Amino acid sequence: MPKLRKPKIPDAVVPPPLRKPAKPGSAGTPKGQAPTDLKETPERKSAGDKMLEVGKEAPIDALGWVDQRLAATGFLTGMLFRKVPKGTNWFYTLGSATLFAFIVQAVTGVFLAMFYTPSATQAYSSIAHINNEVPLGQLVHGMHKWGSSVMVILIFLHMGRTFFFGAYKYPRELNWVIGVVLLILTMTMAFTGYLLPFDQRSFWASIVGININGTGPVVGPYLSDFLRAGPELGATTLSRFYAIHMLLVPGAIIALIGAHMYLVVKLGTTAPPWVKAERPKVAAPVSQLDAGANGNGRVNGHRVNGAPVDGEGNGAL
Ligand code: HEM
Repeated sequence: MPKLRKPKIPDAVVPPPLRKPAKPGSAGTPKGQAPTDLKETPERKSAGDKMLEVGKEAPIDALGWVDQRLAATGFLTGMLFRKVPKGTNWFYTLGSATLFAFIVQAVTGVFLAMFYTPSATQAYSSIAHINNEVPLGQLVHGMHKWGSSVMVILIFLHMGRTFFFGAYKYPRELNWVIGVVLLILTMTMAFTGYLLPFDQRSFWASIVGININGTGPVVGPYLSDFLRAGPELGATTLSRFYAIHMLLVPGAIIALIGAHMYLVVKLGTTAPPWVKAERPKVAAPVSQLDAGANGNGRVNGHRVNGAPVDGEGNGAL
């Protein structure tokens, strides 16, 4: 059997202790005779230059130190250099866009929480304070308010993409189910957030929403009682909505997004339905090996004379 040549690994990706020392005269090493008197060489570095060099290397050294302890390179290489199927297009960015919208909501929400008071008597005035007096308050509040609609729109578009591309089928059913829970939680965020300004609109809209929940079969009445947190919508309802909006649901969303992303990385993404799956490569019969090219531009399944091979580069499962 012919011996295969080992591919050359570029020096840049090999950690310094494992690198082969360069041959004298090759790139990076001084050519010719070694200098007789090292003190006279112009290359001798001053203490300042050495410190600068150490400073430049410091971030890489720090990263290397962390990497050795976490063994993160393997994980990051698997995650960032994974194959994507042929035909991947802009519709595949909708999941990441939803994730970005969630991050914007989380960041702006933290800043709003610094000034918002979840009390029936102060909630409205604290929102007025954010809008009128806090520097950039109106911008951050506006981003959070409109961002919630953006996230809801994006999550539906993303769900539509996964549905129409058949990405809910085996082996991704579990990711679809996690997605459905994420959808419910996102809608819960939008619903509970709507009451927080505690103005006329949010008050009456929340009553309508709670009553709609009450019409659900079996659990409906219990659900609306739980949400109202009392016989009438009031201070306890606001506290309950605030706790759900600030603590319960965001925590669950973060955990589920983690599981969702883990499965995306583990299973890869689905190829668009119009892309044909790669034909399995099987060993050619010995008779064809003897005969050379098999008539369709291939020898033993390999391309010759630039002839295309079906589905080449398609990572579809
Ligand atoms: C917070 C909400 C969500 C976030 C941040 C999110 C994020 C993502 C990302 C980044 C991907 C990979 C790229 C892509 O295909 O777009 C993905 C894939 C996927 N998502 Fe979501 N997603 C969310 C909600 C949902 C929902 C509501 C569903 C369906 C009910 C869903 C089902 C799926 C499925 C089945 C895949 C695999 C797609 C494939 O294999 O091609 N996701 N998600």
